[in-house]
Amino acid sequence: MRIGIYPGSFDPLTYGHLDVIERATKICDKLIVGILVNSAKKYLFDLEERIDILRHCCSECDKNIEIISFDGLLVDYCKENNISFIIRGLRAVSDFEYEITLASINRRLASDIETIFLMARDENLFVSSSLVKEVAMYKGDISTLVPPYVADKIRAKIS
Ligand code: PNS
Repeated sequence: MRIGIYPGSFDPLTYGHLDVIERATKICDKLIVGILVNSAKKYLFDLEERIDILRHCCSECDKNIEIISFDGLLVDYCKENNISFIIRGLRAVSDFEYEITLASINRRLASDIETIFLMARDENLFVSSSLVKEVAMYKGDISTLVPPYVADKIRAKIS
């Protein structure tokens, strides 16, 4: 059984994330979408809210998806749960430096766990949670960037 994990902050979930989730389910038997802590970030949504958003927006996705949260090292979660690969989305070249650092440290910590990158679809190449929050902050249209459920949550949060 090939178990993969798609880890991230998901603050909040975007169509870019959903795109990666959908495609990742095709390359693993079970996909764990993991909300982990990025110590460099301050979050708009607390953990419970991000879990709720993911559960709601993934409710009609593939049945082999599990949403979890974990406050620790990603590779430790992988080892404890028999996860053999980590999935990350790649958008523009600007993602590359950060992603290669993350993949390299994870490989240093656990050499048998592979990181697999899925390229974002063209229409999602620029979509990021931080961009969504900024557009929403200035009352711009975020309807093509996040599902309606997320758009409502963002509007409620920043109004
Ligand atoms: O969506 P993000 O913020 O780019 O995701 C980054 C995340 C949460 C996947 C990364 O920070 C992470 O793996 N955090 C858990 C702690 C960890 O294992 N860090 C990497 C080695 S220092």
